[in-house]
Amino acid sequence: MQTLGKKIEEKPWIGWVVFIITIIVVFLAGLFTYSIVERRTEAQFVFQPATDLDPYEPRLEEWGRAFPRQFNTYNRMSDTTYVSPTLGAPKEDLLEKNPNMVILFAGYAFSVDYNLARGHYYSVTDVHETLRTGAPMEPDEGPMPATCWTCKSADIPRLMADLGPDEFYSHTWAEMGPEVVNPIGCVNCHDAETMELRISQPALIEAFERRGRDITQATHQEMRSLTCAQCHVEYYFGQNNRLIFPWDQGLQAAEVEEYKDAIEFADWIHPLSRAPMIKAQHPDYEIYEKGIHAQRGVSCADCHMPFKTEGGVKYTDHQVQNPLNNISNACQTCHRQSEAELTRNVVSRHQDVQQVRDRLENALVKAHLEAEFAWNEGASEEQMAPVLQNIRSGQWRWDYGAASHGGPFHAPQEMMKIFGTGLDYAQEARVELARILAQLGHTGEVPLPDVSTKERAQAYLGIDLEQRQREKDEFLRTVVPEWLQEADERYSRWDAGESSPSGS
Ligand code: HEC
Ligand code: HEC
Ligand code: HEC
Ligand code: HEC
Repeated sequence: MQTLGKKIEEKPWIGWVVFIITIIVVFLAGLFTYSIVERRTEAQFVFQPATDLDPYEPRLEEWGRAFPRQFNTYNRMSDTTYVSPTLGAPKEDLLEKNPNMVILFAGYAFSVDYNLARGHYYSVTDVHETLRTGAPMEPDEGPMPATCWTCKSADIPRLMADLGPDEFYSHTWAEMGPEVVNPIGCVNCHDAETMELRISQPALIEAFERRGRDITQATHQEMRSLTCAQCHVEYYFGQNNRLIFPWDQGLQAAEVEEYKDAIEFADWIHPLSRAPMIKAQHPDYEIYEKGIHAQRGVSCADCHMPFKTEGGVKYTDHQVQNPLNNISNACQTCHRQSEAELTRNVVSRHQDVQQVRDRLENALVKAHLEAEFAWNEGASEEQMAPVLQNIRSGQWRWDYGAASHGGPFHAPQEMMKIFGTGLDYAQEARVELARILAQLGHTGEVPLPDVSTKERAQAYLGIDLEQRQREKDEFLRTVVPEWLQEADERYSRWDAGESSPSGS
């Protein structure tokens, strides 16, 4: 074989051909790079605010005029046909699926009605429809305070600014019904003027302050999780129904329990065991923070709101959903494994965690029923005190894990720790119960009622679902349309310039 150099020496024109081809290749490569840079610029253009939105505009379609891509992907959340291999279908009746929950939540609204969440698009409708909010026919009726609305709507930043948080929390849920009609929206996460991410939830800002941190100093990557931490967190209603994130001692199950023990807090007294219970909400952020993705600096938005490219424009997919329905954009930007492999990874973590959760759950149901039996047999307050404390601690851990629907994938080890320690508390309670029953002269099996279906468990607790459903239907038929009409009249005034969302 001759070398190229030798060939060129023999026939100089070959050198010119190579030279010209090189120039053409370099030119084309240059063009290609330019087009990539240009697309980048296009992508950046999307970030340029082109709006004169009111700072508190709650209506998504108003924002959608300036940002159609984000608005259109947001609207895709209306489609709830996706069924997750681990979490099941949206709006699924969780009590039907898991009747244990009826017993665990006995005496609390979650034992009446509990569906799997459908997503941001439905946040207001679902709150209207759930039996947990009751059927208030008058503004001062109903079981819930306005605080319930805090995490549900794009109207909240406006109302917080208008009324101030304290006054907002002091109202009933029904009083705020006509004001809160837009689902979770743009203004919950964005500053209307700059489109920067923004925290609009007073409780999150306050929780950071109490931990000595100024949330306005958070990094951009932190903000891509903190916008979610406005709502996907553990909380409780303090004095005058003030919304509080109980993070003063730390964010983890045992630390939050310490905080609530210190203020002797109970959400309700369990009617069977008489234990002073604490309800966990949805500590998605807290548990996520313990996982490997958080430790490597990955944010919620990386998986739940990944970038998407359309016609050369790169933008953020605003269809916040289960990432298993979007693995190519949500995972494969960082992982090169196949969709099937990544799904298997998620499912196997979920199933492993579920096994421990199931054991804890069964132990707690038995503990409540055995405690009820012990009271009936004449156990004393003094005898029962340590049992009730253990039931409280065990169920707190069960709930802290169970209410975090993504937890088994977000942080499987942390979930194993929470459920594992919870199981220890629950079994401790049952060992003590056996001892107490023996002292009372009962050494045989405790006869347990049949609570194996939602219907049987609810019948055992005396819950009349039909009556509540009739009242709810009446409420949805008469009251909700009035609320919506009142909101439409408000928009007409805004659009006519008589007033504005900012209250001017
Ligand atoms: C739950 C919080 C949340 C809501 C609600 C939300 N966004 Fe976003 N938005 C984000 C995040 C996170 C980003 C990525 C920002 C970043 O990393 O700089 C983003 C980015 C954007 C951007 C910048 C360009 C882009 O696509 O990355 C625009 C414009 C935008 N959103 C518009 C909207 C509009 C319009 C709505 C209402 C229909 C909306 N957003 C609702 C969280 C939200
Ligand atoms: C203003 C409060 C709020 C903010 C901000 C918020 N969420 Fe939500 N999110 C909710 C509520 C409430 C629901 C349940 C709505 C329903 O189904 O009726 C929900 C539902 C979801 C769901 C559907 C399923 C489920 O089990 O809850 C996912 C996934 C989700 N949110 C992720 C996120 C992510 C990721 C962010 C940040 C980018 C975020 N959310 C920001 C309040 C919020
Ligand atoms: C922004 C980058 C990024 C994205 C997006 C991402 N991951 Fe990861 N993932 C990581 C990093 C970093 C680790 C830690 C491994 C390491 O450091 O070597 C990790 C670890 C994992 C692990 C092993 C950790 C464990 O639980 O034991 C699994 C499984 C995984 N990712 C699955 C997924 C899935 C499924 C998705 C999409 C829903 C996803 N990842 C999205 C970066 C990412
Ligand atoms: C590395 C990717 C990744 C990150 C980062 C991530 N998630 Fe998830 N998330 C998932 C996956 C995958 C699932 C489904 C898990 C399963 O099926 O067991 C999920 C499930 C959820 C669910 C339940 C969804 C449903 O349909 O019921 C919520 C809510 C949620 N995540 C919120 C968050 C929040 C809030 C953050 C940040 C604090 C976050 N996630 C960060 C991948 C991620």
